[in-house]
Formats: sequence, structure tokens, C-alpha cells
Amino acid sequence: MTRPKLLLDCDPGHDDAIAMLCAARYGDLVGITTVSGNAPLDRTTTNALLVSQIAEIDVEVHSGSERPLMADPVHAHHVHGPSGLDGPELPPLQRAVASRDAVEFLLDRAADDVWLVPTGPLTNIALALRRDPALLTRFAGITLMGGSVTGGNATPVAEFNIWADPEAAAEVFATGNPLTMIGLDLTHQVRMGHQEAVRLREADTATARMVADILDFYAASTPGARAAGAAAMHDPCAVLQVTHPELFESIRLPVAVETRGRYTRGMTVVDSRVPRSSSDRADGPFNDQVQVARHAEAARVIDLIIEAAVVPIP
Ligand code: BDR
Ligand code: CA
Repeated sequence: MTRPKLLLDCDPGHDDAIAMLCAARYGDLVGITTVSGNAPLDRTTTNALLVSQIAEIDVEVHSGSERPLMADPVHAHHVHGPSGLDGPELPPLQRAVASRDAVEFLLDRAADDVWLVPTGPLTNIALALRRDPALLTRFAGITLMGGSVTGGNATPVAEFNIWADPEAAAEVFATGNPLTMIGLDLTHQVRMGHQEAVRLREADTATARMVADILDFYAASTPGARAAGAAAMHDPCAVLQVTHPELFESIRLPVAVETRGRYTRGMTVVDSRVPRSSSDRADGPFNDQVQVARHAEAARVIDLIIEAAVVPIP
């Protein structure tokens, strides 16, 4: 199996932590950058370091933006707890950040064989784009977790990563560069919870125990996950779409990010009108190069996530 090179920009975060394991297991993880999102930057960075330490992932972690481009920082403590990774018992931190300049690292490591996978608010990416407007064309591709076609989680219409920094997301989408959008319509198809935690505990390794604790906490922390008995694996889906594209199906649709609406700020506006003629084409900042993921082979994706938690990182 060829392991694509991945650069993960994340805000761990329960599902980001699992995404890290998938990236290291199935990809060649060239680096991790962190951003303020699920928790403040110092916590998301500490969590990224702790997860890499527990899973023995040999990777540099570069911390990035402490706040969104314009908006006030918002966090998802109600989902991930004040630490951003409540649930597992975490050991004392023994690792340190490689730098506090994630933007420089992104600019430096962009290459045509590296996939960029953002799984948090897009602040670092937007800041890097301001320094190099061609940045996204220098990567093999970009697959991001964010947005939705049919409804939100942070607001009735906005998904958390886009809503937490809509201006950054708008700048990323408005580049017109090809993007793959792993939104809520897709990630809600891949759910894990107590049932998988039981399977993981049989493995009895530090990483498997951490993931089992993550699943137990995460599946109980939000009303949606509680109702379904399992939590959506948002961020691992973004990584696995790159490493196992055959398990995902997407459709190319124009997408723009709403930054101004009184009720719709942070919404990804997806033009799914069919047929769409030149007269009713979406215009303005719509990016018509977005592959919107719409179906995942959930059972196989879940098996891959469990394997990533159980089998040691190569
Ligand atoms: C996204 O928001 C965060 O809470 C998760 O880590 C995921 O990236 C889902 O809306
Ligand atoms: Ca995330």
C-alpha cells in the first residue's frame, strides 16, 4: 500500500486525536499544525503532543493561531470538555512543540506530493494563503473537515469548524482551488461509541485504551451522539478520504461561505440545483471546484479506525 504524505492541521479534540492515529497509520505524516478551535490553542497543542506521545507517533507539532482572523475565539467545551480531550487519563507531557509558527511550517512543507488535511477552523491556512496566494496549488490536494449541505451543529445551519472562523473559511473557499469538503452529511454516517470501545479494550494497549475512553466520553457528550448512541467520526473521515478514497463518494458542487448573515454566518452555501444552466449558475465567491463528500462505506471506515487504534504505528 502506498502511504500518501499528509500534513494535518487540527484542534484536538476527540475526533482530531483519532484522525492523528489514522494519519500516522495509513499515511506518511509529515507534520502536525495546531489551531485554536475545540479548546484554546495551548490545550489543542498539548493534546496533539500527548496523543503523539501515547501512540508513539514520531512527528513534529507546530502550534499556530491563537484566535480567528476577525471573530472572537469560540470553543466546543460542551462537546470536548474544558481540556479539549476530557475522558482519557492523560500522562504528564514529555514532548515539546517544534515551533510556534505553524504558518511558516505550512508554507515550507507545501509540496506536490503532500496532502493538506485541515480538521479544525481554517485560520492557519488562511494566514498562510495571505503570504502565498498560490499555496493550495502547491499541495497534492486539500481535504478538509468542515461545512455541510443540509444543516449545522454549531448553529442550525453552520458547522463548527467553519462557524468558528468564517472569514478564514471564506478566504480558503474563495481561492477557487480544488477542495474536498468532508461535511456533516458525510460524517454523520460514520458513528462510533460504547460498542467499539468494548472491542478496543480487548486490545489492552495504551493507545487502544485512550481511544476507548475517547469514544465513551465523546458519545455521551452531545445530545446528537447520545441520541444515536455513538458519535460522528468527523475528522478521521477527512484523513481516510485521502488514504482510502475508494470508500468515499463525492459530487462536484459550487460552495461559498456565508460571513454576514444574521442567522446564517458560518454556513457553507452549497448550490445543489439540478440541472444548473449558465443563467442560474452560482456566482460571486462560489468555488465550483469543490468535491462535496456525500457517502461513506461506514462499516469499512470504522474497521480502519479500530485497526489504527490497535495496531502499532509503523
Ligand atoms: C468538527 O468540530 C469539532 O468539534 C470536531 O473536532 C470536528 O472537527 C465537527 O463539526
Ligand atoms: Ca476538529
